[in-house]
Amino acid sequence: MALLTSEMADVAGSINKALEAILPPVDGYESQVVDAMRYALLSGGKRLRPFLVLASASLFDVPTPRATRVACALECIHTYSLIHDDLPCMDDDDVRRGLPTTHKKYDEATAILAGDALLTLAFEIIADEKTHHEPLVRTELISSLARESGSHGMVGGQMIDMLANSIELDIGAVARLQQMKTGALIRFAVEAGAIMGRATKDQKHALHNYAHDLGLAFQITDDLLDINGDPAQLGKAVGKDGDKETFVSLLGEDRARMQANMLADQAVIHLEHFDEKAELLRLLPHFVINRRN
Ligand code: IPE
Ligand code: IPE
Ligand code: MG
Ligand code: MG
Ligand code: MG
Repeated sequence: MALLTSEMADVAGSINKALEAILPPVDGYESQVVDAMRYALLSGGKRLRPFLVLASASLFDVPTPRATRVACALECIHTYSLIHDDLPCMDDDDVRRGLPTTHKKYDEATAILAGDALLTLAFEIIADEKTHHEPLVRTELISSLARESGSHGMVGGQMIDMLANSIELDIGAVARLQQMKTGALIRFAVEAGAIMGRATKDQKHALHNYAHDLGLAFQITDDLLDINGDPAQLGKAVGKDGDKETFVSLLGEDRARMQANMLADQAVIHLEHFDEKAELLRLLPHFVINRRN
């Protein structure tokens, strides 16, 4: 695991630098929204999704600067999803990544606008020629990211998650909700490397299955941490899921943990036809389920 944690730290460092360069502060009255975008984007975070983009791109020897741009775009969307997730009309959270949430630091209008602008910035980054010289590759990245972020993906999942406080969901419905709200961006992260690297159909299929199991294991762990995590370590409040249906509320802690373990093992098996270049991807699922933040 030491190899993985040091690689993850390196990726976090290079992503922070790249995001800083993509989004410099501006002058003028609009500076408030840019400051809020920078506040949310540059305030830490595990940078797990960028790590996945870079790790999957490296399977196909995609040049790092290209993969880094896609990783930054995805982190913009992830950060926007967190800003909106924390709003009073959604989860109503005051702390994120160990700091006041964006609407607490600024105000609700600024937080909504910062989220909106991060979403559009993501597509601006990918559409730029610097991301890939072939327009068709850029278009494929854009349509995949749009699909996984929108009402068929993350946003759709967030909608069901909001309803999950008041409707009864069975285990299949909770799995679908989690695949959408969290799995979708993780799926894009892994798929992006395959798109840029012109992977074969079989390779794409294997990576898709890997991301499917990893995404679910990741969210089950997030739900477990909501019950038994340490807020100081997590950088966010715990006990927020309340009466909401999750894997943990439906299965209990022990079976939910077993399920996450089983999914992590299964994720690794999906990579069996890749060579040693997939080593970091193989280490990640067990890191994800054992994390404390
Ligand atoms: C939190 O994601 C939101 C979920 C999808 C559970 P992360 O746990 O990856 O948050 P950061 O980016 O590290 O803050
Ligand atoms: C959020 O899920 C998933 C998103 C798409 C933002 P949660 O609401 O469980 O995430 P946390 O626990 O606030 O980080
Ligand atoms: Mg939420
Ligand atoms: Mg939340
Ligand atoms: Mg949570």
